[in-house]
This record gives sequence, structure tokens and C-alpha cells, in this order.
Amino acid sequence: MGAGDGSLGIRLARWAARQGWDWRFTNLDLNPHALRLNSHNRNLAGSVLALPFRDASFDAVIASQMTHHLFSNAELIQHFREAWRVTRDALVLSDLHRNACLYGLVWFWVHALGFSANLRGDGLLSVRRGFRVPEWRRLAQQAGILHGHAWLYLGARIMLDACKED
Ligand SMILES: C[S@@+](CC[C@H](N)C(=O)[O-])C[C@H]1O[C@@H](n2cnc3c(N)ncnc32)[C@H](O)[C@@H]1O
Repeated sequence: MGAGDGSLGIRLARWAARQGWDWRFTNLDLNPHALRLNSHNRNLAGSVLALPFRDASFDAVIASQMTHHLFSNAELIQHFREAWRVTRDALVLSDLHRNACLYGLVWFWVHALGFSANLRGDGLLSVRRGFRVPEWRRLAQQAGILHGHAWLYLGARIMLDACKED
């Protein structure tokens, strides 16, 4: 969900192939232009707030760095709820953790690498719109994901994983 150019799915499929697994991805994004950059997988334009899939359509549902694009608590809960609805088993959500240290690091790198003012603003805004573990725990509960596990990865990424079989 919010797959952009779908590069995450390509990398995951390659990794799975090395383990001897055949993983296939469907990419969904609001932006059809981003999806067109990917010809490896099935692509669908649409919103994470109203996923155009039946209940339990996929073995796993993944979103990386898209959740911070949503605006209200109601949208966030709807996003979690929709993701949980269409997965048969696993859900993995990941985004930026909101903290001063990450903000400082991103500030340093966007300046050191000479990013344009727009890209600098975008990177820093993404961290400001990031999340904390208790927030994701609360959202998961409100979305009916009762045994979700929200945690912090390497001090920079917030993760939520959940399995329906648990
Ligand atoms: C920062 S990009 C992340 C792309 C990709 N997941 C990655 O990690 O490389 C965020 C993506 O979320 C998409 N997006 C934002 N709001 C969305 C929504 N309501 N429904 C679906 N996609 C959305 C944007 O179009 C954009 O491609």
C-alpha cells in the first residue's frame, strides 16, 4: 500500500527467491504515474482508505513510509482497519519514528547532500509527521488489531506487525 514505484516489492521478491520462495506483489498507490515506473508486478491506482480488494485477499499486506501521508486520526484508523481487512494473515506497517535525533540526522544529510529546498522540507516534514510507539499501539487497538506488536527499529523506524493466526 502506498507502493510508489514498487521498488520495495521488487527487492522483497528477489530476497524471497533467494530463500526459494515465490512471492508475488500487488502494488497500490494513489499516484498512477509512480506505479507506471514498475512493470514487474500487478499495479492498481487507489487509496489505502478504501482498498479495492475483497476481505482476506492477500497473505500479507505491507506499507512502508506511507502512513505519515494521512491527515487525521480517523484516516489513520481507517488505513489500519482496511489493511487488516484485506490480509489473510500478516500485516507489516513501517514508517518514520518521530524523534529529535532522527530530525537532526535528516537535517544534516539533506543539507550535506545539497538537496533542493523542496526536498529538504519534504524530508524534515516526514520526520515531524512520524509516529511514536504508543500512538501506533492505540491506533491498532482502535482499528480492531488486538494483538498487534508496535515497536521501534534502530531508533528511526516505527513498526507494527500482526498476524491473524496469533
Ligand atoms: C514516501 S512514498 C513511499 C513509497 C514506498 N512505499 C517506499 O517505501 O519506497 C509514499 C507513497 O504513498 C502514496 N500515498 C499517499 N497517500 C496515499 C493514499 N491515501 N493511498 C494510497 N497511496 C498513498 C504516495 O503517492 C507515495 O507514492
